[in-house]
Amino acid sequence: MPKTDYEKYLNTDTLLSLQKPADALACHDELQFQIVHQVAELWMKLILHELAHVKTLVAKDRLIEAHVLFTRCSQILNLLSDQLRVLNTMSPSEYHKVRTQLGRGSGQESPGFNRILEAGPTLWAPYKALLDRRKVSIEELHDDPEKHPELFLLAEDLFGLDEQFINFRYLHLQLVKRIIGGDVPSLKGVHAEKYLMHGLANQFFPELWAVRNEISRRRGIPVGAKSGLCPYPHGDQH
Ligand code: HEM
Repeated sequence: MPKTDYEKYLNTDTLLSLQKPADALACHDELQFQIVHQVAELWMKLILHELAHVKTLVAKDRLIEAHVLFTRCSQILNLLSDQLRVLNTMSPSEYHKVRTQLGRGSGQESPGFNRILEAGPTLWAPYKALLDRRKVSIEELHDDPEKHPELFLLAEDLFGLDEQFINFRYLHLQLVKRIIGGDVPSLKGVHAEKYLMHGLANQFFPELWAVRNEISRRRGIPVGAKSGLCPYPHGDQH
């Protein structure tokens, strides 16, 4: 049968040959495991493509177009988080059959994820340059967003990207705890939960998280580690 234009354009032969054939699967659920990860790599590739363009657009003051692409990235991050739920349908014992196939390979090595970790923070420089061109500081912007709505919209876009990426990491941690437990060594030999918890503290734009404290401070709320007592034992050490 000659290939249809659809098959040619989307290269479906190659695409559909990228998963193990049915008779080579270690268990029934291995196909979903492979597909969920492969699809995640594709979505992350698209996020990277969009973020690179966002930087150019912000540098050229094309803010509405940048906002549209931020919205696109946000939708993709929603999909990435949502699709983790597909793997909730896999039992721990079934996963252990898949695990025998992974060697020492792990999500730590995801090219898309690692490139987003690098690319995320690089969005700050063009945005900060935009604020400098408009002669407004990040604090002034958040004190009175109505004065510069389009700049505030982009600040919220950046914040949203950061927040959604952390949310994805959090949902992934929950998935890991559901499937293998948190208190186990990963395939890389690190403590799974401690390792993943550490990643949750990573922020692309610490300035945008910090300015929330600053706005609270400006409204007369005492800000700082000693400003409120934690009711839990040893809480003040965290
Ligand atoms: C059965 C499902 C899964 C299990 C049991 C699992 C397990 C783990 C574990 C134990 C780690 C941390 C330690 C290490 O990498 O050695 C990890 C990291 C990671 N996994 Fe998964 N994973 C699963 C599904 C997924 C999926 C579907 C994705 C992609 C969407 C993914 C992407 C990642 C990434 C990006 C990291 C690095 C995270 C970070 O540095 O914060 N994993 N995974």
